[in-house]
This record gives sequence, structure tokens and C-alpha cells, in this order.
Amino acid sequence: MINYKDKIVSVLSKNVKEIKETKILSMIETPPNLNMGDFAFPCFGLAKIFRKAPNMIAQDLAEKMELDKIFNRVSTSGGYLNFFIDRRIFASEILNEVINKREKFASSTMGKGKTICVDFSAPNVAKPFHVGHLRSTVIGNSIYRINEFLGYNCVGINHLGDWGTQFGKIIVAYHNWGNKEEIEETPISSLLKLYVKFHDEAKSNAKLEDEARAWFVKMENGDKEALSLWKWFSEETIKELKKIYKRLGVEFDYYTGESFYNDKMDVVIEELTSKGLLKENKGALIVDLDDYDMSPCLVQKTDGSTLYATRDLAAAFYRKKTFNFYKSLYVTDYSQNLHFAQVFKVIDLMGHEWAKDNIHVPFGRVTHEGKRIQTRKGTVVLLDDVLKGAVEKVKEIIKEKNPNLENKETIAEDVGIGAVIFNDLSNSRIKDVSFSWDTAFNFDGETGPYVQYTHARASSVLRRGEEQVDFDFNSEMLSDDITLKVLKEIYEFPNAIKNAQIKSEPSIVTRSIIDIAQAFNRFYNEHQIIVEDKEIRKARLAVVKATKQVLSIGLNLLGIKAPERM
Ligand code: ARG
Repeated sequence: MINYKDKIVSVLSKNVKEIKETKILSMIETPPNLNMGDFAFPCFGLAKIFRKAPNMIAQDLAEKMELDKIFNRVSTSGGYLNFFIDRRIFASEILNEVINKREKFASSTMGKGKTICVDFSAPNVAKPFHVGHLRSTVIGNSIYRINEFLGYNCVGINHLGDWGTQFGKIIVAYHNWGNKEEIEETPISSLLKLYVKFHDEAKSNAKLEDEARAWFVKMENGDKEALSLWKWFSEETIKELKKIYKRLGVEFDYYTGESFYNDKMDVVIEELTSKGLLKENKGALIVDLDDYDMSPCLVQKTDGSTLYATRDLAAAFYRKKTFNFYKSLYVTDYSQNLHFAQVFKVIDLMGHEWAKDNIHVPFGRVTHEGKRIQTRKGTVVLLDDVLKGAVEKVKEIIKEKNPNLENKETIAEDVGIGAVIFNDLSNSRIKDVSFSWDTAFNFDGETGPYVQYTHARASSVLRRGEEQVDFDFNSEMLSDDITLKVLKEIYEFPNAIKNAQIKSEPSIVTRSIIDIAQAFNRFYNEHQIIVEDKEIRKARLAVVKATKQVLSIGLNLLGIKAPERM
């Protein structure tokens, strides 16, 4: 596709040799309104070099300019040079590109031969899968999809919290208050109930904590009963998790939880020892990180048991050896910033240059109606309830607005879940999100259902415009400002994806498809599409077709379905 800014740089650089091309590129602006052109170059910074007033420089440059035919004209206003693109060429370029490339539009092979590990979701067995884990799941899933779309080979890993002291607590709770059938029926919520009950009871009965610790020690020592309970809790949980992931359209290449590294930590501890990095501290083993302004990384507790960090060290080595990654990403909330900084620093101190390729992708916390989500006190919104609520809500809306819709169930599922995912990916990931039932299900404004509805609207127009839209349209019919706005938003879409990849920031894609949907809806409201005039009709249908294609790609990159009808 034509790169307009590069073309401007190449004509300008012939006359402005004093400034580097990259600098010129960075100076090019998009004017606030179309009277001032499609691109602008400010000449204020050249005044010193040319010893002339900026408006004179702009005029000089305008006169000397040998414009490419992709530009119609260049004008000046004050110290600015304004470039006007040829709208006909632009429309034909962008539309042909989208229509020709179909679902591959904006994709790339830039990542070819490079592997990216994405560690995401990673809920904890016997603790709830709450809206906080939903964030990791949808952000990680979208990052995975975006990277794949740009040609990277992605490995999706679910580092389940399936080992740890909570199992000791659950075993005690199960023995005292548990019920087999209940756990088999609703594993996640039943285990949570036991977890909460344990903490309630432990407040007045300190013995329970000791018993729990003892059970965890048994697990670590390979006790049969302890391990078979642990295995059962984990398996039941994973079964239910897989159902949730299926509804969310999320898949993992590997379910390698913390327990997977039980036999892979010794070598790491040996290497740390042989490199002289371990220090004893009251019987525990630590790596001192004082020089780097961090608290020490705890590798082994006094009782010989290992920790979260030990498992992450083992996981990093395992992943490097197994996948030889180019980058390895970890998607968790920012409360784990220190943890990952410590782990990566330890790998660096061990002398592995790939330490730098491990990247923590932090995101903001989720609060529920203003309160922090806390497992122990039981103030959690279970994901299951959120999804159920969302789908119910959509069903009500369909009943009211479009009761004869075919496939109501499937569409309600796609739209309800899409709304939840979109809500989560709307703000830059580092921001805290306050989860409230009202905003998650607000179907007007900048939401998932709005974009999905726009996609369905475009699909319906295409169904009505009976002729096939192909490359045979007259782009002269598309030179008005409103159409231009749609095409410009589509033109920016590939850049949005690349930026989203670089920054691991799906909200850039979210923003881009909202902008496209808004521009398209204006186009739809202001222009009749299925008109008598065949030339106009065909050209406008091409815009509709391209918009539908791009919205569908964008939704897909976010992990959201794009229904044909709503
Ligand atoms: N299970 C952890 C939690 O819920 C997240 C694990 C993230 N991945 C990792 N490799 N540490 O907080």
C-alpha cells in the first residue's frame, strides 16, 4: 500500500537536505480539518537553518515541490505546508487492498521464524477464577492472536497455580466440611467455598493452620493420600476451566502449571549454587538483590520447600530450552511487578543474555463496585456469573428489539461474551478497572455490541445489494469527506495492529475498530447505499464490504465473534 508519509519525506528531503529523513518523518502532522489538507509539514523548526520566516519557507518549498501523482496539490497556510492526497487514487488503493487480501488484510510475515511464549490466564486451583483472571485471559489471548497475525509463532501457556499451601487448607477443609458430589458438580465454586470456610474457622481455631501446613508438607513428600486429593481437585478444576475457555474462545498450547516444575527446580538451584549466587539467611536460601534496589529473591524456605519464584525460574529455563523463544511474555496484574523483576534479574545474574527477552506485561487491578477483590473474604464476582449475566441481558434485548431473530441463543452468547471481553480491552491495560454490572452491559457507546452491530449492519447491506462487489468500482464516486473519513480509518488499521504488537496493548486495536465503526455509521446515515445509480451503488458497496472485513479482523484479534446478523 502507498505510504503517504514516506512519499512526503522523499519529496521534502530533496529540498531540505539539512534535516535527516527520520526527523522529517517525525515532523509530519495530521491537520485538524480537511481544509488544511491530509498531511501537514510545519516549517517553524527550519527558520534558524534557512534564516527566513517559516511562512516564507513554506511558500518556497511549495513552489519547488515536484509532487507525486498520489497528491493532488500542496498549499501553504502560515508556516505550514499542506498536502492534499488524490482521493480517487487513495480510495482505489485502500479498497482494493482490503478486498483483495480479505481476512489477511493488515497481516504480516514480520515475525516469521520467531517464537513468542505467552503465559496468561493462570488461575489458581482451589481459589476462584474471578474477573481479575478474566483480564489476564482476554489480554493474553488477544496478544497471542495479534502476534500470530503478524507472523510470529506463538506458544500459549497456562501456568496454573496448581501447587502451594492452599492445597493443605483445602484438604483440611474437605475432610471437615467437604462433599464429593458437590465438588464434582461445581468444582470451582465448591472449592472456593471450602477455602473461605477454612479461613473463617481458622480465625478461632489456630490448630487448623498447623494441620494445613502438615498436609502440604505431606504433598511435597509424595504422600499418596495427599497427592491423590490434590490430583482430583486439580483435574476437576481444569475440566471446568476448559468449559469456560471454550465459551471465551480461548485455547492454550500447554497446560503446564506450577506442579510441572516440581522436578525441574533442582538444576536451577544447583546452577545458582555453583555460580555463587545463593546466600543463606536464617536457614532459607536467597539471591541478594540489594545492589539493584530490590528485596532478595527467596528461592528456598527454611523447611526446604520451594516458592513461586523458584518455579518461575525453572519455567523460564524450561521455556528457553524447549521453545528457544525470541520473547517470553507474562501477563499478570501489576502487583507482581517486583516478583518478575526479581526473577528476570536472577537469570541475568546467572549470566544468561536471554534474560532480557523475558517481559512482564502488567495490567491494572479489577475492583468490584469500588472494592478490591479478595479471595479470603469471599468478595468475588465469579466469572461464570458474569458470563451468565451478560448472555441473559442480551437475550432480553433481543426479545425486545428483534424477537424473530434466527439463532437467538448463539447470537446472545456471542454478543454477551463479546461485551465482557470488549469492556476489558477498552482501556489501556495498565489502568485499574472497576467492574460494575452497569458498564459491562452498557450496549450503547463504545462497546463490543456496538462494533458487532455495525458489522452485522454492513453484512445486511451487502446481502441487500445483490451484485458481487469486486475490483470493478469507480473510485471517483468516493471522494466526499464522509467516505474519506471511513477510508482513512481503515488505512490506519494496519498501523494500529503493529503498535498493539509492539506495546502488547490490545486496546489500540479496540480503539481503531471503534473509530472505524463510528466513521462507517456516519457514512451509513448520510449516504444511501443501495441507490438506482449503478456506479454509485457499486462504489459504496465496496466501502461497506471493506468495512465489514476490517471489523471482522479486528474483533477476531480481540477474541470476539463477528455475527452476520443481530
Ligand atoms: N497463578 C498466578 C496468580 O493467579 C499467576 C501466574 C502467572 N504466571 C507466572 N508464570 N507466574 O497470581
